[in-house]
Amino acid sequence: MPAASSLRTAIYPGSFDPPTLGHLDLIQRGARLFDRLVVAVLRNSEKNPFFSVDERIQMLRQAVRPWPQVEVAAFEGLLVDFAAQAGAQAVLRGIRAISDYEYEFQMAWMNRRLAPQLETVFMMPAEAYSYLSSRLVKEVFQLGRPVEGLVPDHVAAAMRAKSGE
Ligand code: PNS
Repeated sequence: MPAASSLRTAIYPGSFDPPTLGHLDLIQRGARLFDRLVVAVLRNSEKNPFFSVDERIQMLRQAVRPWPQVEVAAFEGLLVDFAAQAGAQAVLRGIRAISDYEYEFQMAWMNRRLAPQLETVFMMPAEAYSYLSSRLVKEVFQLGRPVEGLVPDHVAAAMRAKSGE
């Protein structure tokens, strides 16, 4: 067991609206690499979220139960400030395709400018999830197709329940 001071903490930030199996794949990979992983859900002013931030947090908490080293929290403001508050040394982000690079590099460089000691670590999800995004999941669901196999079962059930509300 490493000394407490050498524990490695990473933050995995995002919107997670909704959490997908691609996110969980990244969480599982991150949980293997870091001693502590904080999944951080952005509290933003997006006008029409599918799920509220609190609903996303609940769904993520249920999904990460197998990994005791994974926590779920909400954050607002700058990611680098939340990372410092959480004692994180790294930001974890998933890269699926080349098209993700530009946006991810912009964020990583800006975060490095704001907090030079904070490293951004990019990981690839399993190939099966390389085309998966929350945006496409919502679109497929809203146009009437099932999303089982794209999101955890309890998330698919919550999407159905919400559309029947
Ligand atoms: O899953 P997403 O929506 O691509 O995640 C984007 C997120 C939450 C990582 C990003 O918007 C973010 O970090 N927002 C916090 C505000 C911030 O720190 N901005 C400056 C760094 S680019």
